[in-house]
Amino acid sequence: MQRIVVLVSGRGSNLATVHQRCVAEGWPARVVAVVSNRADAGGLAYAAEQGIATAVVDHRVHATRQAFDDALARVVDGFAPDLVLLAGFMRILGAAFVRRYEGRLLNIHPSLLPAFPGLHTHRRALAAGCKVAGATVHFVVPEVDHGPIVLQGVVPVHPGDDEQALAARVLATEHVIYPLAVRWFVAGQLRVEGGIVRHTGGASQVLI
Ligand code: GRF
Repeated sequence: MQRIVVLVSGRGSNLATVHQRCVAEGWPARVVAVVSNRADAGGLAYAAEQGIATAVVDHRVHATRQAFDDALARVVDGFAPDLVLLAGFMRILGAAFVRRYEGRLLNIHPSLLPAFPGLHTHRRALAAGCKVAGATVHFVVPEVDHGPIVLQGVVPVHPGDDEQALAARVLATEHVIYPLAVRWFVAGQLRVEGGIVRHTGGASQVLI
């Protein structure tokens, strides 16, 4: 059984879909803990309801980014993870933290990377007149919203879309691609060579 720890800062809808698919499909894995920098994160409430262990590492009580990262790593290590997922975790993690979990740290970002790293992705995609948008699951590297791409979900941008409409469409594809990427990881079906991720069984790594 592979042990998954999920880091969240907010509502936790990606956490919920990964957890639900893991249980429903009987993956050789389970979500053993949900850790947040915010005590009021919806994802923590979901975890508690599901009987999943929770922990809070409040960034505000740590004087430096390094101190926060060290405290977070101590908590995460306490759950002995095989895989750590960032699922709407809104703190930038330092290089030492990222390297500690290198190769077993995934993130989901609501854009088709390398376009639009950072915040306000939907607003920026609309302002650029993009005709497609989407989300990316990638291995985490020290540079924020970069790293080997596991899987991308593509959705159309419709004329008349506002930020909310586009965000909702992208979120729907997030809820498909994150569980799929995690399932591939726990099944040992991902290989990273030269910064490129391949599915060993040749599965399509784009969902349109
Ligand atoms: C998602 O859009 C994810 O791509 C981004 O943060 C949001 C988290 O949403 N990194 P949720 O907390 O999983 O509902």
